[in-house]
Amino acid sequence: MAVQKTYEELARPPKPGSWEGVYWGAVSSIMRTVGGRLSESMRIGYQYGFDSGEMLDYIYCNEAHGAWGIGQLLDRIHLNAIGWRGIRQRKAHLQALLREAIDRQQAPGKSIHIVDVAAGPGRYLLQVLQELGQDGLQVTLRDWDETGLAQGQMLAQTMGLKVVRYERGDAFDPNDLARITPRPQVVIVSGLYELFPDNALIARSLNGIDTLLEAGGLLIYTNQPTHPQLELIARCLPNREGKSWVMRLRSQEEMDRLVAEAGFQREKTLIDRWGIFTVSLASKGQ
Ligand SMILES: C[S@@+](CC[C@H](N)C(=O)[O-])C[C@H]1O[C@@H](n2cnc3c(N)ncnc32)[C@H](O)[C@@H]1O
Repeated sequence: MAVQKTYEELARPPKPGSWEGVYWGAVSSIMRTVGGRLSESMRIGYQYGFDSGEMLDYIYCNEAHGAWGIGQLLDRIHLNAIGWRGIRQRKAHLQALLREAIDRQQAPGKSIHIVDVAAGPGRYLLQVLQELGQDGLQVTLRDWDETGLAQGQMLAQTMGLKVVRYERGDAFDPNDLARITPRPQVVIVSGLYELFPDNALIARSLNGIDTLLEAGGLLIYTNQPTHPQLELIARCLPNREGKSWVMRLRSQEEMDRLVAEAGFQREKTLIDRWGIFTVSLASKGQ
């Protein structure tokens, strides 16, 4: 089996004129010119970034669209990529742990505040609300990207959800997190830390979430221990800032250590059958 390149190796572009540079340059330009024009998911990826909330929302819907029959076919092939299948499984796991978290926090007369600190449009959360009903629930969906927030707001309106509020916020700024009121009983952080290599940044965010959460509250967090297409993604797909999308893998031990150091106790982890994405539930002490 080929040895996977490290984050640092993938973050360095291939040398100009090297065979690797020529190869990836050709693959990348075919994907952009052909895929980007014909397939709707590729168009969204090139416009907003393949790691954006807008992209993930399209992946969750899993409906192929494109120009002519060929565009739709290319879109289906892209939607079926192993990483996106893993993302849809991650959504199902996230929803299962969210239902459990709500169930555990429920008590007569108690209102539960759920906060997602980097939600994108937050379709996974809206669907759970629709399924469980809105009574006794209050939801704050935050993100740094205003387009994803506006898209979510429209979706929530279409679904008739009234207990949902969208606001811009920085998940890495503890002072900004502390502005969220009332203090939540459940916090979600999904698909965010995988985009950032620096553990100090993750620790800052987790400490901010720990301060924010009510005593006895629950944290749902994701992690990405591996991915079979790291190099293709790093060489060909732009992220939300228009830069190369270099994924930061963390072993589950590394991620759990960060969560434990911030004061949480991990209770359970769900993982897809390819081992790409995990979703975990952790609790804050009383
Ligand atoms: C891969 S998407 C995940 C979206 C959603 N949580 C999900 O699981 O489908 C990453 C999200 O993190 C957001 N994001 C990036 N940096 C952020 C920051 N500093 N604060 C809040 N959100 C941020 C992006 O705008 C994007 O919507």
